Amino acid sequence: MDLKFCFFFPFSLRMKGGPYKLRRRAKELSLILIVLVGATVLLWTWDRSPVLTSSLPSKNKLLHLSPDIKTVPLEPKRHVKEEISTLTRSEVINNKEEHHFDETSSTDTTETVPIQKKEEEATKHKHGPKREKTGVIKTGSSSTQIEETKNVILLEKTSEKEEKTVENQACNHAKGKWVIDDRRPLYSGFGCKQWLAPMWACRLMQRQDFAFEKTRWQPKDCDMEEFEGSKFLARMRDKTLAFVGDSLGRQQFQSLMCMITAGKNSSDVLDVGKEYGLVIPPGGKRPNGWAYRFPSTNTTVIYYWSSTLCDLEPLNVKDPHTEYAMHLDRPPAFLHQFLPKIDVVVLNSGHHWNRGKLMANRWVMYVGGVPNNNSKIADMGSAKNFTIHSTVKWVDSQLPKYPLLKAFYRSISPRHFVNGDWNTGGSCDNTTPMSIGKEVLQEESSDYSAASAVRGTGVKLLDITALSQVRDEGHISQFSITATPGVQDCLHWCLPGVPDTWNEILFAQI
Ligand SMILES: *[C@@H]1O[C@H](CO)[C@@H](O)[C@H](O)[C@H]1NC(C)=O
Ligand SMILES: *[C@@H]1O[C@H](CO)[C@@H](O)[C@H](O)[C@H]1NC(C)=O
Ligand SMILES: *[C@@H]1O[C@H](CO)[C@@H](O)[C@H](O)[C@H]1NC(C)=O
Ligand SMILES: *[C@@H]1O[C@H](CO)[C@@H](O)[C@H](O)[C@H]1NC(C)=O
Repeated sequence: MDLKFCFFFPFSLRMKGGPYKLRRRAKELSLILIVLVGATVLLWTWDRSPVLTSSLPSKNKLLHLSPDIKTVPLEPKRHVKEEISTLTRSEVINNKEEHHFDETSSTDTTETVPIQKKEEEATKHKHGPKREKTGVIKTGSSSTQIEETKNVILLEKTSEKEEKTVENQACNHAKGKWVIDDRRPLYSGFGCKQWLAPMWACRLMQRQDFAFEKTRWQPKDCDMEEFEGSKFLARMRDKTLAFVGDSLGRQQFQSLMCMITAGKNSSDVLDVGKEYGLVIPPGGKRPNGWAYRFPSTNTTVIYYWSSTLCDLEPLNVKDPHTEYAMHLDRPPAFLHQFLPKIDVVVLNSGHHWNRGKLMANRWVMYVGGVPNNNSKIADMGSAKNFTIHSTVKWVDSQLPKYPLLKAFYRSISPRHFVNGDWNTGGSCDNTTPMSIGKEVLQEESSDYSAASAVRGTGVKLLDITALSQVRDEGHISQFSITATPGVQDCLHWCLPGVPDTWNEILFAQI
C-alpha cells in the first residue's frame, strides 16, 4: 500500500495542475503514462519476485517481518538442565533426574552474555552501569540485546542476483525462508520409537497444533537436495558421522536417525556403542552417548555428550565427590581418541556455560594444566568463547592428517523464553508458524563466537541460528512431559521439527 501511494502521489498532483499549453500537456500525459506503466510493472513483479522487495524502499516490510525476533533472548543466563547427567570417566556426577531443570544456578548472577563481539562492549555501556555490573540480562532489555547482536533480518543490496545456483559450494544455506510443504515432516512423530525420546516427541504430548511440522527451509540462492535416507547411507558408505555436543546435539542425532529410517523400525541396525566406549558406567544410568551402524552400507552414526566441548578430568579418582578439571584448552578425550575413525563430525556447545551448572557438576576451569587464573577468560562468556576457539583450532590441526574428514561447528540454537526465563514463568506459546515467508537475509552468522572460531580454519560453520530464531513456535513449550508444572521448555525443539532442517543443511554439505 505504501508503494502505491508513492507512485500515485505525483500523478494526482499533476492532475490538479490547471490548464496548460497543449504540448506541455501531451508531455505531461506521456510522463504520467510512463509512471503508470512503470508502477504497474513494479507492482506486478513485486508479487512474483520476492527478490525485488529488496530493491524497493520497503524497509518497513522486511523489518516488520521479524517483530518476534527482537523479543527473543538468544542465550540468557539460565538454561534447561542437560538430560544426561553423567560425565566421562565413568563417574556419575549428578543424581538428579534426566530432565529436571536447573535449580542449582540461583547464585549465577555474575555471568551471561552469550553471543557477543568485542565491538558490543562499547554499545553495552549505553545501557548504564546497572546491567554492566550485574551482567544480568533482564527480559525487558533482551530486545535491545538482540539488536546489539545484529540479529535482525538485513536488507539485501539492490544488485543481488536473481538467478539460482545449484552449486552447493556457492550457496549460503543460512539465507532463505521457511515455506509450507506437504512433504514434511520426513518422519512421523508417532513413530520412530527406536530413536526418538518421548520427551521430545510432541505428537505424544498434549499439543494439538502441528502446522509447525509442515515447514521446509528454502535457501535463497539454491535448491537444497531433498533428503533421502538411502541417499544419505549411500553417500556415507563405510563412513562414520559423529555429533559431539549438548542436548541440542542429541536432538540433532535423534532427528537424523529418524530421517534416515523415515521413522520406521529398523531391526537390522546394530548398536555398536561398545566400540566407542559408550556403555553404561558403573553406578550410572546411561552411557555418555550412542553409536548405531546401518549394516547395509556399513554407516555409523554416533552421538557423544560433551556439553562444553572440553576435556573433563577427575582431580581425585578415588573420591566419588571429586572435583573435575575442565581443561578449556583440551578437546574432549572422546574426540581425541576417536577422530581418526570419524569421517564427518558435528560439534556444538553453548547452553551449559553458566556458573550454576559448573558448580553443580564441580567443574573447575583449567588452562595449561593448572587452575585458570587468567581473568580474561574467567567469566562464562569468555571461557566458552576460548574453549570453542581451542577445540575448533585443534580439530583444524588434525585435518592435514585426515584430509577426508569433514568437520562442522554447529552454531548456537536459539532459546525463545519471553516474559521471563525458564524458571520465572517464561513462555513460548506461539503456535502458528510466524516465520512463513519471512526471509533471513543476513550475510553474517548471529553466532559471532562460532563464526569467529571457524574463520580461517578448515572447519565449516553449520549456521542454523538465524533460521531457527524465526521458529519460536517449534519448541516443546508448555507441553513438556518432564518439566515441572508451569515451567516451559523453550530451549529444546519438538521432533519432528527444526533440527530436521539442520540435518538437511548438513546433508547438503557432505
Ligand atoms: C574469543 O576467543 C578468541 C581466541 O581466544 C579471541 O581472539 C577473541 O577475541 C575472543 N572473542 C571474545 C568476544 O572474547
Ligand atoms: C518398534 O520398536 C519399538 C521400540 O524399539 C517397539 O516398542 C515397537 O513395538 C516396534 N514396533 C513394531 C511395529 O515393530
Ligand atoms: C566398515 O567401514 C569401516 C570404515 O569405517 C571399515 O574399516 C570396515 O572394514 C568396513 N567393514 C566392512 C564389513 O566393510
Ligand atoms: C597464573 O598461574 C601461573 C602458574 O600457576 C603463574 O606462573 C602466573 O604468574 C599466574 N598469573 C597470575 C596473573 O596470577
